[in-house]
Amino acid sequence: MKHLLKLSDLSKSEILDILNLADQLKYENKNGLTHHLLKGKTLGMIFTKSSTRTRVSFEVGMYQLGGNALFLSGNDLQIGRGEPIEDTARVLSRYLDCIMIRTFKQSDVEELAQYGSIPIVNGLTDYCHPCQVLADLMTIREFKGTFKNLKLCFIGDGNNMANSLIVGCIKLGIKVSIACPDNYKPDEKIVEWGYAQGLLEITSDVFKAATKADIIYTDVWASMGQENEAKERMQAFSGYQINDTVMVVARKDAMVLHCLPAHRGEEITAEVFEAHSKEIFDQAENRLHAQKAVLVKVMQTK
Ligand code: CP
Ligand code: NVA
Repeated sequence: MKHLLKLSDLSKSEILDILNLADQLKYENKNGLTHHLLKGKTLGMIFTKSSTRTRVSFEVGMYQLGGNALFLSGNDLQIGRGEPIEDTARVLSRYLDCIMIRTFKQSDVEELAQYGSIPIVNGLTDYCHPCQVLADLMTIREFKGTFKNLKLCFIGDGNNMANSLIVGCIKLGIKVSIACPDNYKPDEKIVEWGYAQGLLEITSDVFKAATKADIIYTDVWASMGQENEAKERMQAFSGYQINDTVMVVARKDAMVLHCLPAHRGEEITAEVFEAHSKEIFDQAENRLHAQKAVLVKVMQTK
């Protein structure tokens, strides 16, 4: 595996290899075993959007693997003053061993990979959030013990999270049902692919989507960069909420996941959030372990 730009670039077995390594690294981490697999390596982390989990988990992950991480704010880099990505990619490739980037356009991430000569890891774009979904899949397997015969229901905006969940879950055989308003469907090509696999349903009916679901997932109604649409989105998404009524139609042992940050009272009620906080914060923790596995995979095959 050279890069992690989007999950559709990975095969099922590549995803499983990452998840298996993540489980192993988590076990070692919990048992105080050091694993300096990336000793002497440096990760550059470019952020043109905010972050709590991604930034901290990548940085700590590199330290735990014996390497270093540099936080590079998009505002401070010359990129923020118009230096082309193709030049930035070629320069940073001379200093760093890997770049993780969180930004708006997926094409910028792909361009970085095209012009650079080091592995590029996507830490979220408007299009997708592959690192999050790897941690989500790891968490699902921890709680359910398997990927077989599972249904995931995503309620809300057909955004970067929905796009990556469709791809990641379906590749592992998990059925996906998305409940979203008609104007906020996931990416058209991803939807087409999901339908072709026979494992995707898109509906505007929250209850239909949640029926007999093993995993109920949601994300914010307005993503980073959509702050000026917040008001119209509040209206469009009212009703697209995980609450006790929705949980009634899901399976009794359904787990609830949220990539965080969460807006209680909007996409999820405080009650459901707290009732499922074990899953949700294990999910957040698993960002660390899943990303360490990604870092090892991309830097070892360099
Ligand atoms: N879920 C997630 O990516 O969180 P951050 O925005 O805090 O990195
Ligand atoms: N859809 C959200 C995810 C945050 C982790 C956003 O892009 O802001």
